[in-house]
Amino acid sequence: MHHKPKVLLTRRLPASGMNLLSQHFDLNVNPLDEPMPHSRIAESISDKEGLACLLTDDIDLEIIQKASNLKIIANYAVGYNNIDLAAVNKRKIPVTNTPDVLTEATADLTIGLLISVARRIVEGDNYVRAGRFRGWAPELLLGSDVYGKTLGIVGMGRIGQAVARRAHGFGMAVLYYDKKRLPEDVEKRIDIQYREAIQLLSESDFVSIHAPLSDDTRHFISGAELNAMKRTAYLINVARGAIVDEEALVEALRNGDIAGCALDVYENEPVVTPELLQMPNAVLVPHIGSASLEARTKMALMVVENLVAVLIDNKRPPNVVNPEIYTNSLFRK
Ligand code: DGY
Repeated sequence: MHHKPKVLLTRRLPASGMNLLSQHFDLNVNPLDEPMPHSRIAESISDKEGLACLLTDDIDLEIIQKASNLKIIANYAVGYNNIDLAAVNKRKIPVTNTPDVLTEATADLTIGLLISVARRIVEGDNYVRAGRFRGWAPELLLGSDVYGKTLGIVGMGRIGQAVARRAHGFGMAVLYYDKKRLPEDVEKRIDIQYREAIQLLSESDFVSIHAPLSDDTRHFISGAELNAMKRTAYLINVARGAIVDEEALVEALRNGDIAGCALDVYENEPVVTPELLQMPNAVLVPHIGSASLEARTKMALMVVENLVAVLIDNKRPPNVVNPEIYTNSLFRK
């Protein structure tokens, strides 16, 4: 039997991914359905050629230094801020992510959250379950219209664009800010208008974050930005928690500087700032943007494809996020 490359998987993935992984690789998988402790990853990595990891794993310099045989890091997420790219690049290890397959699922959840916070769906659900529903009432749980309002999207990549398409179905005007403005013909085609960040915040009824977390975007939304928003506006974040200064957000909600928020992600997951838990105008879900069976299954298959490309076919992986490591290399394109 031919040699199967050793791969460390830090947590079980949906079944079809698991089957393929064990077909191709000598798989060492975390037996527990909980994050693998950093120390265990560090201990187990030295003889592995592949690492399949999650956004909850901090793949830092210490792990990279111990990973003397590592040829690929396949992250089971589109975001890869959990990986120390500078350290990885020095070792010329390709890092891969799972773009595209979760775009529509994440955009669906974004719209779900937007409507939930505007129309107070979670409050209504709690109300009914608490046995408080005494019949239709003219002013029961009045929220805000979604139809015809202005949506400001921060980060107009794949997911931002998928959200914009949906928003048009609700007759919304869509503004966007991105550090890189899109070409005019693309703006026209998607029917979106560019604004500087502060301008976007002050014009929008809903602000939705779809940017990656980086040094540029950490606390991109902080006190001044929340202050610039309308008092009637809502903030939605399905990207990464640390893009929003969670303390400043709590303060803004407490002071009525904005009308509400809907969050899928938090600054210190899984910890949620306790005040948020008490606020009825905060809709809170546990980082489930990509959590459809279809999306999570496709993400697992992508992880397998990337591992196979590098460890079996000796090829450049299809979803490499640090292609700069291939400059002057002998790898086939
Ligand atoms: C990602 O892919 O980055 C999401 O946070 C989880 O799917």
